[in-house]
Amino acid sequence: MPDPVSVLFVCLGNICRSPSAEGVFRHLVEKQGLSAKLHIDSCGTANWHKGKAPDARAIAAAERRNIDISGLQARQLQAEDLDRFDYVLVMDRSNLADVRDIWHQNGGTEPRLFLEFGKSGQAEVPDPYYGGQDGFERVLDLIHEASEGLLEDIRERLG
Ligand code: 4NP
Repeated sequence: MPDPVSVLFVCLGNICRSPSAEGVFRHLVEKQGLSAKLHIDSCGTANWHKGKAPDARAIAAAERRNIDISGLQARQLQAEDLDRFDYVLVMDRSNLADVRDIWHQNGGTEPRLFLEFGKSGQAEVPDPYYGGQDGFERVLDLIHEASEGLLEDIRERLG
């Protein structure tokens, strides 16, 4: 069997947006019976929350959509991730600048804005950390839509 297609979601802290993206995308992949063909992970550009579970508000928002992200643990992006993952998908332009710096030094997979795969016309998943619960709902809406586009792209790649 060919190697699984690997997808890495990246944000700043790896406690709000990228674990939500990991959970939503994995849920979609499981529903479509493609789990064995994909490897999915997430991380943050910062190490501030290393080892921690996602933010309680992100867990609650995902739970309302029957997605459990409570078991995820934050980790920091490593340069080697760019060698290991086929897709490196960042949440905002600040993440993009940070990961591009590493990519310029290291090579490997060029990072892209995750919402390039969506149809909302929005380029960035806004950081919900300092806002209210509604920000987390908006994050899930944007992520869900882009996840469908991403899976379409991967299906073409898988043939
Ligand atoms: P994330 O959100 O990048 O979506 O995980 C944030 C989490 C933590 C902080 C900022 C953004 N922080 O400043 O600690």
